[in-house]
Amino acid sequence: MAAASNRLDRFLARTLQRSLKQIRLDLAKGRVKVDSALCDEPARLVHQFTRIVYDGQVLQNNQPVYILLHKPVGVVCATKDAEHKTVIDLIDHPQRDELHIVGRLDLNSSGLVLLTNDGRWSSVLTDPEQKVPKVYNVEVEHPLTASYITAFAEGMYFEYENHTTAPALLKILSTHTAQVVLTEGKYHQIKRMFGRFRNPVLKLHRVAIGDYHLPSDLKVGEWRLVS
Ligand code: URA
Repeated sequence: MAAASNRLDRFLARTLQRSLKQIRLDLAKGRVKVDSALCDEPARLVHQFTRIVYDGQVLQNNQPVYILLHKPVGVVCATKDAEHKTVIDLIDHPQRDELHIVGRLDLNSSGLVLLTNDGRWSSVLTDPEQKVPKVYNVEVEHPLTASYITAFAEGMYFEYENHTTAPALLKILSTHTAQVVLTEGKYHQIKRMFGRFRNPVLKLHRVAIGDYHLPSDLKVGEWRLVS
């Protein structure tokens, strides 16, 4: 989903259906503005959110959108779903059809979901190499013991993905509740990790992704723009 940079002359040639030679002449004649300033450089790099104007005609003027959502249980993290309400259905914003989800939550999990139309931002947040911490509050059926802390920190081998989970921090909050910090996002990862102890997860709620925290005054089902 990364939004690649593109050369200005190639962008113009494709958008205006003109040859690169014609476009370079147009640039030299001062017919193009990039982010409100005249630009005559064919090799200037432009991206999804660069404003580009040709002879007064706006060719591109996309605005980046960043959204925090408090996802309720029972809403699906997808853009379309035949059966359930989706996170997009909860967002009444003119650019909602451009949005994609930055790290999904299961149908029966709740909490922070980030949405954006900026592929560069989402690819940094979801890149396992960046080790962006995702913080979850978890309630389980059976009492927790110190052995969970060790097992989460050591990592668990998932045969299906042929992957050993990255060290995860588990802090016991009470007999049946814990806070878990992951730096990756494998399918149903937390449920599968507690599954190793045959301890079903009863509630799973995400409170933070990197520097973004679920605001305490953001009610279930509500969303907010962030800059
Ligand atoms: N782990 C899970 O099992 N479910 C989620 O929604 C997120 C992490």
